[in-house]
This record gives sequence, structure tokens and C-alpha cells, in this order.
Amino acid sequence: MGDTFFEIIGLEKSFRGLKATNNVSLSIKKGEVCSIIGPNGAGKTTLFNLITGLIKPDAGKIYFMGKDITGHSPVDIVHAGIARSFQIVNNFPRFTVYDNIMIAALGYKKLAMKMFTPAKGIAKNEIMELIDRIGLAKEAHSLAGELSHGDQKRLEVGIALASHPSLLLLDEPTAGMSSDEKGGILETIKRVMKESDCTVFLCEHDMKVIFSVSDTIWVLHNGAVVTSGTVDEIRNNSLVKEIYLGEAE
Ligand SMILES: Nc1ncnc2c1ncn2[C@@H]1O[C@H](COP(=O)(O)OP(=O)(O)O)[C@@H](O)[C@H]1O
Ligand SMILES: [Mg+2]
Repeated sequence: MGDTFFEIIGLEKSFRGLKATNNVSLSIKKGEVCSIIGPNGAGKTTLFNLITGLIKPDAGKIYFMGKDITGHSPVDIVHAGIARSFQIVNNFPRFTVYDNIMIAALGYKKLAMKMFTPAKGIAKNEIMELIDRIGLAKEAHSLAGELSHGDQKRLEVGIALASHPSLLLLDEPTAGMSSDEKGGILETIKRVMKESDCTVFLCEHDMKVIFSVSDTIWVLHNGAVVTSGTVDEIRNNSLVKEIYLGEAE
């Protein structure tokens, strides 16, 4: 708590007797790229769902910038400064990139009911700047549903950024991407961190991705944190190798 930017203590969540989150404690420093790795089913998405208020924990605490946000609603958590992108693409496919970002920004400003009237309070250049930051300037007026998978994941990051988060949670941002696309989105994430002054909390199944961007890595297995450390520490950790045995690319 206290000065810690983000901290989880003893978080628990079971689904029908199965501990998807098993006594998880971790902390994140402001300005770092913090990552969670773990095989499919390790509990990464569940942890993100708990943090963002989509589901409530059975036990444990979540603190953000000195505030207890445990069990708060998703809207309150966005307003506290935490936004996320989803593992599965989540946008309005028949709206343009520009409109998707504008709707997200309006929603954040609680003006969503007026979304078909002129977008008061949302400057056009602010939206274009954000679109540029996520590398979609050329696609600003393309329909979201017609973008490549990689560009849809970028848009996802843009939608999350529209709420000006201090902490950005990215759930497998490179899932289903080609290696070229992966490189592109990683560059975008690095740029976003620099230009948007936000801390990134990333969960990934792909170790190569994690090793290329992370400052601190937490390893999740069967719902529990098994170890944490820097890229070098995790890369050489025999337990991590064992967990990933047979999964390494
Ligand atoms: N809403 C739910 N109801 C029942 N079981 C769930 C639910 N969400 C996740 N689980 C289970 O929790 C475990 C962790 O899943 P998940 O958090 O999606 O893992 P990951 O994101 O690491 O692949 C899995 O066994 C999954 O089947
Ligand atoms: Mg997941």
C-alpha cells in the first residue's frame, strides 16, 4: 500500500471449487512494463477481470495509487485510472477507427448518451493524435471491422487509451498475430508508454514478446504466482522452463 503504485495482496477467486486465482500477491512500480506469463489456463485473464472489476474476488485486496479499489465497479475503476484491452477483439466493427475512439472518449466523459450529436468536449485533434500514436493514422476513416487483425489490436489499445489511464492492462495484445505484426504492436506499446505517461501491465502466453518489453515478470501457474524477476532471471529459471516445457517456440 502506502507509496506503491499498484499492489495486490492475497487475491483469491474460485470457479466451482477450482482456484483460478490462488493467493496472488504482486506489485507494480510506476513507469515500468510489468508482465504476467503463464500457460493457457494459468489464470491471467481472471486476474485482469478481478483488477478491472468484471468479477469480484473471494478474498484479498487491490490497491491503486493509495486507494483500495477491491470490488469496485468497472466504471469506477476506469475513472480511478485503470484501462484494459481484451484478449478477444472488442470494438464497433461497422464504425470507423475515428468513431470508435471518439465513442470511447465520450463514454469516458459520461457523454455516451449524446454520441450522435456533435461531440462537444472532445477535440478532433485530440482523437487524431491518439490514432496517430497507435499507428493507425492512415486507417482513421476505415471501418474497424475491415482492419487487419493486427490493426484491430492496435485500435483496442487506442480505445483503452481514450480514458487517459495511468495503468494500462493489455491481455495478450499479440494473440493471433504474425511476427511482423507482433513487432509493430510492441513498438506501439513502447511509444504509448513514453508519450502517454502510463504504466503497462501486460499478460502474455508468448515468452518472446514478454522478454522483449518487460522490466519485471511474474510467472503464474495454476492460479498462483510461482516466481518473479527480471527478464534474465526468468529466462534462466528452471521452474519456468519446466512449466513451459513443450510450449517453447
Ligand atoms: N467465468 C468462469 N467460469 C468458470 N471457470 C472460469 C471462468 N473464467 C475462467 N475460468 C477458469 O479459470 C482458469 C483460468 O482461466 P483464465 O484466467 O482464462 O486463464 P489464462 O488467461 O491464463 O489462459 C481456467 O481453468 C478457466 O477454465
Ligand atoms: Mg487469457
